[in-house]
Amino acid sequence: MMVKVDRLSYNFGPHWVLKDISFSLDKGEFLFLTGHSGAGKTTLLRLLYGALPVNRGRAQVAGYELNKLKKRQIPQLRRKVGVVFQDFKILPRRTVFDNVAMALEVRGMPRPHLERRVRAIVRAMGLETKSYSICERLSGGEQQRVAIARSMVANPELILADEPTGNLDFDLTMHLMDIFKQFHTYGTSVIMATHSREVLDCVPEARILHLQDGRIVTDSEPGLEEDVQ
Ligand SMILES: Nc1ncnc2c1ncn2[C@@H]1O[C@H](COP(=O)(O)OP(=O)(O)OP(=O)(O)O)[C@@H](O)[C@H]1O
Ligand SMILES: [Mg+2]
Repeated sequence: MMVKVDRLSYNFGPHWVLKDISFSLDKGEFLFLTGHSGAGKTTLLRLLYGALPVNRGRAQVAGYELNKLKKRQIPQLRRKVGVVFQDFKILPRRTVFDNVAMALEVRGMPRPHLERRVRAIVRAMGLETKSYSICERLSGGEQQRVAIARSMVANPELILADEPTGNLDFDLTMHLMDIFKQFHTYGTSVIMATHSREVLDCVPEARILHLQDGRIVTDSEPGLEEDVQ
């Protein structure tokens, strides 16, 4: 089991943003989170990543019990979990190569191996001509691809992605979804929040968890879903 969430609730002050959420995700499963703006998708992903504390209900991610997670364990959790968040900033003054390489440097990967891995993922993201460009000079979509490359380069067991194709045009969105699907084929688990029908249609075998005002209203195969918006 990659993720197990049991009766999880979360509040910002008096506002309960997640209410009694339960679901689990098997190793290698692809799960979409959908629901209107404000439904709680980002909050749920942030809880799963240890960016917000779990104090109502329980959550287990990649073998870590989030309720009992110590501060010093957060980096260990994050080595297993790749995160693509819109507010997860790359370092603007460093190059594309350096931003991606960082994820492997913290794991102590030897340099020749690291360089091969970084070059391969940078190429897969269509950024090979920008490898040595400073990130702040890239377009929004290019920067987003750098963030995605960084989160995937270390082959995480689980990828959490919050609207990862939000700034990208149709062709790039399809290209990026192919990359996510490749990871999925190799056995990586994925949870992706999205509003986009096109993105949902890219992974017909995925499960869809539909949130409405902080509650799960449907948990189903896409074919059974009437209306995901
Ligand atoms: N730091 C915060 N402080 C207070 N309220 C917050 C905070 N973050 C989110 N909220 C509130 O929690 C609710 C859920 O927000 P969340 O970002 O999880 O929604 P979402 O489903 O990701 O929406 P969107 O599709 O617009 O990204 C919203 O009502 C939001 O205003
Ligand atoms: Mg959101």
